Amino acid sequence: MKTLIEAAVAARGQSYSPYSGYAVGASVLADDGTIYAGCNVENAAYPLGFCAEANAIGNMIAAGGRQIVHVVVTGPGTNICTPCGGCRQQIREFASSLDTPVTICDADGAVLLETDISTLLPNSFGPENLKNT
Ligand code: THU
Repeated sequence: MKTLIEAAVAARGQSYSPYSGYAVGASVLADDGTIYAGCNVENAAYPLGFCAEANAIGNMIAAGGRQIVHVVVTGPGTNICTPCGGCRQQIREFASSLDTPVTICDADGAVLLETDISTLLPNSFGPENLKNT
């Protein structure tokens, strides 16, 4: 857990967020024990920015990982940085179970909230919905 949080905090340090000034870091622990991290990457064409969670997941996929067993998100300030709606769906896609934990931390890595993907995204639509149709 400590290493996973440290990875998210370190990734947050690389955030490219000149427009919002809101730096986010995320890390995902894959089922083989590998940690992948990402930060938000904004763009002068605002809608083209990417969230930290999406980039962490993209890094996992590019390296061959497919199953997430734990997610950490770190953001600034005292308002907890819970994943946005789109990121909740992206986490859901690769979560190893609906109980996959999601830990939200402050910029220093102190835990602010322990939750899970089914709490963040109840009654979700996922890959299994498309099977046996
Ligand atoms: N952001 C994330 O990286 N993850 C989230 O789940 C919430 C929002 C980023 C997007 C944008 O670069 C900045 O935070 C402000 O919305």
